[in-house]
Amino acid sequence: MRHLTGLRSADRDRIGSLLDRAQALRQAVCDGTWQSTPLAGRAIALAFFEPSTRTRCSFEVAVTRLGGHPLRFESAGSSLSKGESLLDTARLLQGVGAAVLVVRHPSSGAARFLAARLSIPVINAGDGSNEHPTQALLDLLTLRDELGTLAGRTVVIVGDVMHSRVARSNCFALRTMGAKVILAGPGTLCPPALRGLDVELGHRIDEVLPTADAIMMLRIQRERIGGAMLPQVAEYREHYGLTASRAASLAPGVPILHPAPMNRGVEVDDAAADGPSSVVFDQMANGVFVRMACLLDAVGEV
Ligand code: CP
Repeated sequence: MRHLTGLRSADRDRIGSLLDRAQALRQAVCDGTWQSTPLAGRAIALAFFEPSTRTRCSFEVAVTRLGGHPLRFESAGSSLSKGESLLDTARLLQGVGAAVLVVRHPSSGAARFLAARLSIPVINAGDGSNEHPTQALLDLLTLRDELGTLAGRTVVIVGDVMHSRVARSNCFALRTMGAKVILAGPGTLCPPALRGLDVELGHRIDEVLPTADAIMMLRIQRERIGGAMLPQVAEYREHYGLTASRAASLAPGVPILHPAPMNRGVEVDDAAADGPSSVVFDQMANGVFVRMACLLDAVGEV
């Protein structure tokens, strides 16, 4: 079964073929030549146990563009409040006919847990602090568009790396594709143990920015971190934020990425988020095509 629970063990061929397919789908949709409905007659469960805007909307568009039917589940208003378990909820979605389960959940490992117990493919739409593989793939597609190639490029990831499923999936995928990754952030949110991801650590943003071919800023995840781990917001911005002046100091052609939602004025200033080097909204647009590619891969459409 073609699950996509993470990118830790995805090889270069798998990542490369998903990116190539997403690029081809984008070309066909933009040219107006995309007519195919390979998911016609199939329901795709979009099970969101945690809030989402980008991932949920782009999966909905992806399913619809492929001719499928989105089967939406949101925890608010569901029988979870009556004590129904994650597994029973997922079995229900499988039982009513879902061909694929797309799942977002606050617990790390939830997607893998379900993949081991269901008889339909599972796509991880973000599980706790573990992985967010479709986000990393859309980030790689955007980086490839901007940089031409990933091999040999240096991507600097700044912020709350410890709680970031986006950063973990990006580290796995970027290293597999031959890029160098440098992480930066406060020691509490970017601890030495992260070197286990086969990356470099450089705590001072002003030392690492000049080495970057691309910058990825991360959201401060207030919902996952305790107050003791985070300096005051103003202090955080001063030491780790991509301020207007830091953005202006970047070499021309160094793209600025952020998975969003953004905390404007904290990890990224408006001038950086909306400036000419920002590709944040390109990332979001690419999400649809990456998710189309992942859905086709899951159902075995070649
Ligand atoms: N980047 C991302 O996963 O955004 P959402 O939480 O809005 O889906």
